[in-house]
Amino acid sequence: MATIDRGTIDLGNHDLWVDGPPYALFDELRARPGVHYSENAHWPDEDGFYSLVRHADIAEASKDFKTFSSEKRGIFVVDDIGVPLEVQRLQMISMDPPRHDRLKKLVGKAFTPARIADHEDAVRQIIRDVLDRHSAGDRIDLAVDVARPIPARVIGSLLGTPQEDDVKLVHWTNVVTAWEDPEVRKAWDSTLDEFQEIIQYIEAVRQDRAEHLGDDLLSALITAEVDGERLAAEEVAVFFILLLAAGNDSTRATYVATMRALIENPDQRQLLLDDPSLIPRAVEEGLRCFPAFGFMGRATTREVVIGGETIPEGARVLLWYVASNRDPAVFEDPHRFDLMRENLEQHQGFGAGGRHFCLGTALARMELRIWIEETLKRWPAMELDGPGTRMASLFLNQWKRSPVILGA
Ligand code: HEM
Repeated sequence: MATIDRGTIDLGNHDLWVDGPPYALFDELRARPGVHYSENAHWPDEDGFYSLVRHADIAEASKDFKTFSSEKRGIFVVDDIGVPLEVQRLQMISMDPPRHDRLKKLVGKAFTPARIADHEDAVRQIIRDVLDRHSAGDRIDLAVDVARPIPARVIGSLLGTPQEDDVKLVHWTNVVTAWEDPEVRKAWDSTLDEFQEIIQYIEAVRQDRAEHLGDDLLSALITAEVDGERLAAEEVAVFFILLLAAGNDSTRATYVATMRALIENPDQRQLLLDDPSLIPRAVEEGLRCFPAFGFMGRATTREVVIGGETIPEGARVLLWYVASNRDPAVFEDPHRFDLMRENLEQHQGFGAGGRHFCLGTALARMELRIWIEETLKRWPAMELDGPGTRMASLFLNQWKRSPVILGA
């Protein structure tokens, strides 16, 4: 059995993340036997965590929900994110079966591939409207000016909320997911108050919709039935928040990171310009190289041996997709952005199978495909215009600012 090197490297140290995920460190940890433990000194009131960094270990843990619980300690690097665990557990991403099974079945009834496919024209129009605000030669911030409004409106249009509320909804998304970044955090004193505000907003929208049912996702959520049972009002509200949180950050992060990679790898961009039918491959390679969520957390319900290490009961275990998606055991020359690579479909950007596998894959893939296509059509020679700024977060693998010059 390998020994865990306590205290030497703390992956929770934000200094390691200033320029993005510490890939070299992950390479080193992946090559060592055993499973690494970090003290998590950044959060002195919280305890440490174990890190799964190999593709096979993450697949194993994702499928064993009985041992690796999402509910016990939530999915983050700490228990308390300003929203206490008991409130986090209202969201299905932080639930175990049987609660999770029931909810996933219910929302699955509303979130069907057919509904998503029907939305394709609307998604393209939303993307065109935002891109057409800018012209060749403009200097813009890709992350703020382009990436923020699009997923917000796509989800807003699915749910049927008015466009003028998008900015508010994006802000609320940050409250739930970007709580690690001091720039975001100082903008809100009391996360829980804001959480209550969101619930009130959604409850008003839900009540109104229940009286005027339409063909939107929210109406489908309100009326979905499994075994004669419907979602309770509170469950609809909490799921709405999860959709905003899961769908906004992730899609915009993937778009910005993939566009940057295409700028930095002109040969790859040229492949797409010559043959746009390869764009879905660029989307998958973007999801592999830059998984929008750096990790998902679990907690052990019993002592378990994984990755050659014994992990005690009750421990926090982080499933680092930023590491597993660059595991050379699965991906050759893993740090290269290469849309023609083999095994592309094996990336874990949407999770590694198992019960919590992303619900929004069809929507995210469609949105990113159209978005990259429309961007390349307008600005095939876009260039970076400065270094950009990272979100100060281990959870969100994201560019907060990304200045570019739009080149036609
Ligand atoms: C590039 C875009 C996206 C990425 C990279 C992504 C990634 C993920 C990941 C890693 C998980 C957790 C998997 C696990 O723990 O095993 C997840 C769960 C989830 N995602 Fe996504 N996601 C994306 C887009 C979306 C969109 C657009 C939606 C919906 C609008 C969405 C809704 C969800 C939901 C509801 C869950 C929780 C599922 C559950 O707990 O059963 N995601 N996503």
